[in-house]
Amino acid sequence: MKHILGIIASPRKLGNCELMVKEITRHVPEPHDVSLVRLQDFDIKPCKACYRCLFDKERCVIGDDLNKVLDQILNADAIIVAAPTYLLGASAVLKLFQDRGLAFSAHIERLWGKPAIGVGIAGIPGKEGRTLLDIQSFLTFLKTDIKQTKLIFGALPGEIFFNEANRQTAKELGQSLFGEKTIPKQPCCPLCGGDTFRFLENGQVRCMLCSNAGSVEWTSRGPVVSIERGEHEMVLTKEDVMYHQEWLRNMKRRFVEEKSRIRDIALPFKDGWTWIRP
Ligand SMILES: Cc1cc2nc3c(=O)[nH]c(=O)nc-3n(C[C@H](O)[C@H](O)[C@H](O)COP(=O)(O)O)c2cc1C
Repeated sequence: MKHILGIIASPRKLGNCELMVKEITRHVPEPHDVSLVRLQDFDIKPCKACYRCLFDKERCVIGDDLNKVLDQILNADAIIVAAPTYLLGASAVLKLFQDRGLAFSAHIERLWGKPAIGVGIAGIPGKEGRTLLDIQSFLTFLKTDIKQTKLIFGALPGEIFFNEANRQTAKELGQSLFGEKTIPKQPCCPLCGGDTFRFLENGQVRCMLCSNAGSVEWTSRGPVVSIERGEHEMVLTKEDVMYHQEWLRNMKRRFVEEKSRIRDIALPFKDGWTWIRP
């Protein structure tokens, strides 16, 4: 029996995100049970950049609900996440959770390669902005194996199912959760599967999911993207994640070495400023 965790990043009860996740789970052919978390129900505070999770107990020291949600993720066999578009990006609670991700690295063995599906819901076709990238990034830093991500449109709660085609999409997503990875039709990064790129000054492009650069060739069949692995990899393989974690740990040693230089730079900025406090 597989245990599926649905992560809803919308506060709207019986809204489109919730309905989509529930509908997808109905079509997962493997025997399974489902638990749901609505991220907005949990107290998720911003990361305070203390880096303690890299050194101490490897659990975040902020006393909020992060670990309650993380434990649910650790115990799941697969993840389905849905987030609404808010002002051209996924709702902020997703990034708030993702920002705590240095603490996830301690659990890499249990997290790595969990099958995952991501859905972005936007009210206006074409006004989804970076929502899908935000969801892909969230799932990447959870170290999941992203089987598919999809954008669905609908503004009113439940409106996504005014369109029967979206039920079919839910069916296909559900069937793919424990199946083969679906190769997207549009040009995507050959390293990570990301489909969002920034054009750089030198005619190159950078993949916005794994942050590696490369070239794009415009052929009669459309653009073909080639991306090369960079030196400092953060997400592509388990070893990359561990390398980056070690690089971060080394920053402590560098900080100690550079302490007096840092103090000299910072000191002239210290006094004489007006801070507005809450
Ligand atoms: C604060 C806010 C901002 C929104 N911004 C956008 C937007 O930029 N683009 C868009 O297409 N829809 C936008 N929407 C519409 C939602 O994405 C849409 O209603 C979606 O169905 C909500 O999903 P839910 O029912 O799961 O909450 C916005 C909604 C809210 C509440």
